[in-house]
Amino acid sequence: MRIQLNARNRAYDFDAAPDERILYAGLAARINLPYECGSGTCGTCRARLVTGEIDDRWPQAVSRKFLKRANEFLMCQCVARSDCTVEVASFVYNMDPGACFPAFHGGTIRYTKALTHDVNSFSVELAQPTDFDAGQFVTMQVPGVAGYRGYSMVNFERATSQLDFVIKKKSGGGCSEWLFKGGADGAHVDLFGPLGTATFYPTLGKNILCIAGGSGVAGMMSILERARQERYFE
Ligand SMILES: Cc1cc2nc3c(=O)[nH]c(=O)nc-3n(C[C@H](O)[C@H](O)[C@H](O)COP(=O)(O)OP(=O)(O)OC[C@H]3O[C@@H](n4cnc5c(N)ncnc54)[C@H](O)[C@@H]3O)c2cc1C
Ligand code: FES
Repeated sequence: MRIQLNARNRAYDFDAAPDERILYAGLAARINLPYECGSGTCGTCRARLVTGEIDDRWPQAVSRKFLKRANEFLMCQCVARSDCTVEVASFVYNMDPGACFPAFHGGTIRYTKALTHDVNSFSVELAQPTDFDAGQFVTMQVPGVAGYRGYSMVNFERATSQLDFVIKKKSGGGCSEWLFKGGADGAHVDLFGPLGTATFYPTLGKNILCIAGGSGVAGMMSILERARQERYFE
């Protein structure tokens, strides 16, 4: 399916596969579409459908409350059913040539370990190595659970084949229950990323103050790992 995206500053064209979220298709084409969570909670990816047909893969998404105008939809939850023209209210640019470009990845869950009664760590061994910036996250789809969840990497390594995560259990949560019930090691998962702009670059040359609540500490761990590797605090 061909998607024409009209932004405030210019128009873009990209292809979306039949089951591919429009947001992910645009980001994979290296177009910096607006998003924050990539998983249906923030409303930042809202767009207006001008022509064409879409399917909403999560009509109950909480961030639908941010949709006010006619024909608005969430690009992170909707897939195209035909060629579409969509419109976003913001300025949109191509990604910088030096960026870590988001893409679809397949991986295998490894080394699941309970850290406390409601916090687990685990790794995903990727089929292909990838780069990400310290502080970034991926969205992940696990077997038998609808939709993608965002998880921040806690490690930092260039061209890595292993992403490490720390997960807080949410009672009754689809992904949480699946990960905490045991037996996840060896399972295949689908990832999209890296995503997110709350990143750290050592060339910044400034003091760092990291503030996180709950599982937000994960991205900070990656930032501190990168700072340690670069002897930033010395
Ligand atoms: C950028 C970002 C980084 C994060 N990093 C971490 C981290 O490092 N560690 C951590 O523990 N948590 C992290 N989270 C929270 C994490 O994504 C999950 O929300 C949390 O683990 C609970 O997931 P669950 O499946 O157990 O709960 P659920 O209640 O089943 O789902 C929670 C979220 O999953 C999505 N979702 C649920 N159902 C559907 C559906 N049918 N279709 C599509 N989407 C659906 C929605 O985003 C929903 O808010 C992060 C979230 C974001 C946005
Ligand atoms: S990016 Fe947050 S709701 Fe789509």
